[in-house]
Amino acid sequence: MSSKLNLIGFTEEYLLDIPEIDEQHKRFFDLLAKIGDAAPDLYKVLDDDEVDAVVDVLDELRDYAMLHFRTEEAYMREVDYPGIAKQKSEHNRFMTDVIRMEAEFMNGSAIPAIKIRNFMHDWYREHILELDKPFSLFYKEKTG
Ligand SMILES: [Fe+2]
Ligand SMILES: [Fe+2]
Repeated sequence: MSSKLNLIGFTEEYLLDIPEIDEQHKRFFDLLAKIGDAAPDLYKVLDDDEVDAVVDVLDELRDYAMLHFRTEEAYMREVDYPGIAKQKSEHNRFMTDVIRMEAEFMNGSAIPAIKIRNFMHDWYREHILELDKPFSLFYKEKTG
């Protein structure tokens, strides 16, 4: 089965019309696709080289998510966004979940790479549509 299956990637419905944030969201989905390039079949138990390659991408994704959350929260502070506490707690929970999954994955692939990738994909999709989008409307009203 192709490991790229079911990966929707960045779509127009994610656009917030805040260029820096849109660029970062796009980049995150591009990085996500790199997990599929790191190992040809994410459903099977990976060999050591494949695990290393996947972990490299996961590290990159984690660092990039951290940078992105910091950027986004700075935009929120700029306009005193009332939803910032909820956003921050969701961002922090994502980081905690990803770090835990990555550790489990490194300790003998207890969870398959596909599960981590799908978790990140679905989390980002839902988070952008349900939380980042309402923020962007607030931001544009305040700054536009
Ligand atoms: Fe975001
Ligand atoms: Fe966010």
